[in-house]
Amino acid sequence: MAKKKVPKFKESIGIDIGTHSVKIVHLKRIHEGFKLLNYEVRQTVPQGLEYIPSELRPDRFAPVIAEMLRSMKINTKKIKHLVTCIGGDNISIKQIKTIFLPDEELESALFFEAKKHLPISGGEMILDYQVLSVEEKTNNMNVLLVATTKEEMKSHINTLVSCGLNPSIVDAQSLAVANVFALNTYVEDGVYVILNIGAHRTNMVVYGPQAKFFARDIDLGGFNFTKDIMRTKNMTFEEAENYKFEYGLQGPQAQAQTLSLSTLDISEKPTEETIALEVKRSLRFYVKEAGNSDFKKVLLIGGGAKLAGLQEYLAENLNLETEIYDPFYNLEMPEKFREKKDPQLALALGLAMRKE
Ligand SMILES: Nc1ncnc2c1ncn2[C@@H]1O[C@H](COP(=O)(O)OP(=O)(O)OP(=O)(O)O)[C@@H](O)[C@H]1O
Ligand SMILES: [Mg+2]
Repeated sequence: MAKKKVPKFKESIGIDIGTHSVKIVHLKRIHEGFKLLNYEVRQTVPQGLEYIPSELRPDRFAPVIAEMLRSMKINTKKIKHLVTCIGGDNISIKQIKTIFLPDEELESALFFEAKKHLPISGGEMILDYQVLSVEEKTNNMNVLLVATTKEEMKSHINTLVSCGLNPSIVDAQSLAVANVFALNTYVEDGVYVILNIGAHRTNMVVYGPQAKFFARDIDLGGFNFTKDIMRTKNMTFEEAENYKFEYGLQGPQAQAQTLSLSTLDISEKPTEETIALEVKRSLRFYVKEAGNSDFKKVLLIGGGAKLAGLQEYLAENLNLETEIYDPFYNLEMPEKFREKKDPQLALALGLAMRKE
C-alpha cells in the first residue's frame, strides 16, 4: 500500500503485528533467495492474562516490538528494508474488471470504482491498485484494488515510528498472506486456499497464478478454541490455554464423554465446525463469482494452524487436501533453526521476502 522507492538492500525485516503476538523475521539476501538470520515471536499479552481483544490497549505493541528488536540485536538505524502489514476491518481488497484505461486516467477512474466496490468512505480512503492483466479479446483490465483509512495507516506508522522504525512498504494483510505462498512455491495453475489462523480472526485467501483473487476474514481464531474449552470443560482461561496446547482438538476421550453430559449449552457450534462452514460457504461463492473450482489444496498458517487435530478435521470436512504450510521451505536455514518450521512465522517471513 504505502511504498517508498525501494533501494537495493542486503538485509530485510518483516514484522507481523498480531493482536496476540508480534512476529519478527530478519533475512539476509543471498543470490536469488534469502537466508534466515533470526526470528522471534512474542506475546503482547502477559502470560496467563485472558486475551480479550476489545480490552487490550493499542499502545501495548510498541514496547514489545522495541524489546524484540533489542533482543534480536537489530540496529533500527541500519534497516534499509522493512515490510509490515495492516489487516482487519479497516482494510478492504477486491479484484475488479474495468474497461481498458491509459495510465494517466487510471488512478482517478479507479478511485471512483473503489468507492463503488469497497466499504470505505471517499475522503478517508487511501487507495492502491495493481493491474493484474489485460484481456486480449475484450480489452478489459483485471485490477486489484486495496483501500484503507488514513486513520488506520497513521496509527500503524505511529506504532513503528515510536520504536525508531520507518517502514519501506506497508502491505495489505491478505495480499501478504497470498505472497507467503506465491513467493515460495512455484505453481502454474489451480487454486489454493490459504487460511491464516490468528488469535481472533482467520484470514481466508483464495489465490492462484491465473485465478481470481478473493479474500475475507472469518472472525474466529485460536482464542475461540480456548473459549470452547473453557465452556465445555469448565476451565479457567489459563487452564484451557494449556489444555489446548497439549491436546488441541484431540482431548482424552473418556473425559470428553463425561463432560459432554454436563454441558448444557449445546446450541453453540464448536469453532472448528463454524470455520469449516464459513470456508465452504466462501468457496461456493467463489465458484459462482470466478467460475473456477480447481481447488488444489488448503494451506494453514498462523499460530492457530498448530492446533493438534485441526488439519485433519479441515481435510475431512472441506474434503480437500489440507496441510500445515512450511514457510521456510525455500530458505537457507542455519543449523540452529533447522528443526523450526513454525507456521506462526509465515506472514512475517512473507513480508520480509517482498523485494519491491
Ligand atoms: N501449539 C499451539 N497449539 C494451539 N494453538 C496455538 C499453538 N501455538 C499458538 N497457538 C495459538 O495461536 C494464536 C496466536 O497466533 P498468531 O500469532 O498467528 O495470532 P495473531 O496474529 O496475534 O492474532 P490475529 O491475527 O488474530 O490478530 C493464539 O490463540 C495461540 O493460543
Ligand atoms: Mg495474525
